[in-house]
Amino acid sequence: TLPLGVLISGGGSNLQSLIDRMEAGVLDATIRTVISNNPTAKGLDRAKRHGIPTRVLPHQDYPDRREYDLALTRALQDAGVRAVALAGFMRLVGPDLLAAFPWRVLNIHPALLPSFPGLHAQEQGAAYGVRLAGCTVHFVDEKVDHGPVIIQAAVPALAEDTGETLGQRILRLEHRIYPQAVQWLAQGRLEVQGRQVVVRPNGHPPAALD
Ligand code: GAR
Repeated sequence: TLPLGVLISGGGSNLQSLIDRMEAGVLDATIRTVISNNPTAKGLDRAKRHGIPTRVLPHQDYPDRREYDLALTRALQDAGVRAVALAGFMRLVGPDLLAAFPWRVLNIHPALLPSFPGLHAQEQGAAYGVRLAGCTVHFVDEKVDHGPVIIQAAVPALAEDTGETLGQRILRLEHRIYPQAVQWLAQGRLEVQGRQVVVRPNGHPPAALD
């Protein structure tokens, strides 16, 4: 089972979707730690309710981005994780963390990348008047919402949608595709070839980790 660290900042509904699949026995991962930059993140309570160790690392406590990144990296390493899932983590992760977990950091974004990277993607989509919206799970690289795409799913966007209503529709899909992507990672089936992520058949020898 894959030892996983999950980074959150808020409600933690994506964290919950991972926990639920693990408890149902259909996701071969174990969350070793949930780390939040925000001490009042509701997701911390979700983790505690399921007996998962939590840590709060407020970014304000560190002098600069690099020190914060190193603190996050150490906390993840101390917990013995082999992969990291960003689940509504509203901070950039830096090169030190990425180097410690090469192609082992996943993010979920509430838009069909490369459309609407950054904050408030749902509001941006609704305001733009898109007819299709959705979500993306991707490997994290050094640019914001940019790394190789693992899986995407689309939902209709309606003329009457607000960021809120569209965001709720997107979130329901997030809860389906994030556990799927983490399961592929846990099964060793994801191979990064440039910008392309190949999902190898189950039972295939695991991709070599570099
Ligand atoms: C989710 O919609 C996630 O895709 C988004 O924040 C929400 C967190 O919800 N992430 C981003 O916007 C990252 N740029 P949750 O805390 O209930 O999982």
